[in-house]
Amino acid sequence: MSITRSLLADLRRAVGPQGYLEQAADIEPFLVDHRKLYRGATPLVLRPESTDQVSAIMRMCNEARVGVVPVGGNTGYCGGATPSEDGSQIVLSLARMRRIRAIDPLNYTMIAEAGCVLAEVQAAAASVDRLFPMSLGSEGSCQLGGNLSTNAGGTAVLRYGMMRDLILGLEVVLPDGRVLDNLKPLRKDNTGYDLRNLFIGAEGTLGVITAAACKLFSRPASNVTAFVGLTDPQRAVSLLSRLRTFTGDAVSTFELIPRTALELVLEYIPNTANPLDQGHDWYVLLEIGMGRQAESMREAIEAELAAAMEQGEISDAALAASESQREMFWRLRETIPEAQRHIGASIKHDVSVTTSELPRFIVEASQLVRALSPKGRIVSYGHLGDGNLHFNISRPIDSDDESFLRLAPNINRAVHDLIARYGGSISAEHGIGRLKREELVRYEPPVAIEVMRAIKQALDPNGIMNPGKVL
Ligand code: MLT
Ligand code: ZN
Repeated sequence: MSITRSLLADLRRAVGPQGYLEQAADIEPFLVDHRKLYRGATPLVLRPESTDQVSAIMRMCNEARVGVVPVGGNTGYCGGATPSEDGSQIVLSLARMRRIRAIDPLNYTMIAEAGCVLAEVQAAAASVDRLFPMSLGSEGSCQLGGNLSTNAGGTAVLRYGMMRDLILGLEVVLPDGRVLDNLKPLRKDNTGYDLRNLFIGAEGTLGVITAAACKLFSRPASNVTAFVGLTDPQRAVSLLSRLRTFTGDAVSTFELIPRTALELVLEYIPNTANPLDQGHDWYVLLEIGMGRQAESMREAIEAELAAAMEQGEISDAALAASESQREMFWRLRETIPEAQRHIGASIKHDVSVTTSELPRFIVEASQLVRALSPKGRIVSYGHLGDGNLHFNISRPIDSDDESFLRLAPNINRAVHDLIARYGGSISAEHGIGRLKREELVRYEPPVAIEVMRAIKQALDPNGIMNPGKVL
């Protein structure tokens, strides 16, 4: 149904004068996704400040059968928060719902609203000497609600898990405006179906998450951060297993970086330098969080890396000697997507296989891509400890974006078919959004799609929640 003037007036009234945007310049940032793949239109961006206001909005839009597109920091890669082109959907920003409602350090929990910027959630935890471990490149602008809706991953999944592993309860406004209050900060609660995990990762297609009970952890007293050079990903897998065993699973980050990616970062990102004396084909950024016995552990890890070097497992390693050096090591990893943008369009794959099979996958996928785009520049980096690879291909130097992107359907098919043969995932951490809807149907078992559609129909029979995304 189309949006009537009287609905617009009712919605404005429900949120008050501070609660909406309708001037073209104010609305503009909500019309384009982060990667600029999609451009939509909308007459109104709502910015409610309470769960009650979200509830009122959903009730009105449901009665009018008008689609609602929830948005957080708009940092997603799959177009999951961009409205349709025809201007028939309302955008719902949670940015004003950014209160920390409660922190309980003894229970290791915090209740935070969906519009909190991830860095604010981390800071609130740190203020009571606790850790909220979700960490990713866009943490200064992405919002908790978006992290929840996409079941975000990031660089500490190896030790702490993805968003689903970090949440104990949720408050969700259903498409008809009812509020599902499941916000209990309990670690044990076996009362019926696990509703919270339905909404986490649903990309706003089942309801609007307004608040979450988050798990907190002890803050490591210090970290050992190392930058390692090695000859191939197989050795990186061995090193990970060695260090997991050695530290009793205290490795929180284990990121694989190819030579191509490091060279791009060194070329385009200021204040970066290779911590190692010479170049290597592959690198690993790793971090191990430690308790009070920090100094002796640091020496022990240094000795273990020296042993790995003697045995030919790694070629070189440097340990960050100061906080500023640690930040630089991290910059080498976190700015890869930004550095890659400097060299033109890229065809991206966010895939996962088992960690043990990842090295073989990289070899086979690279062969397939070289056959389709001999000069495409493969930049395959990612969360090796999670078996999650960002297998990206940048356009050749002598090509242009448009002609390179024409290869995307064939390259995507080849890479995703290979993923299917490995029993892997075609979307490990960035979600489906609008970008991968067809891939979802193609690669998920038909029964899984049927169950997803049945759930969608049960919760959102009028199809107003983020229409056109995921399913
Ligand atoms: C990352 O790991 O850097 C992010 O998921 C973004 C990306 O895939 O480029
Ligand atoms: Zn990633």
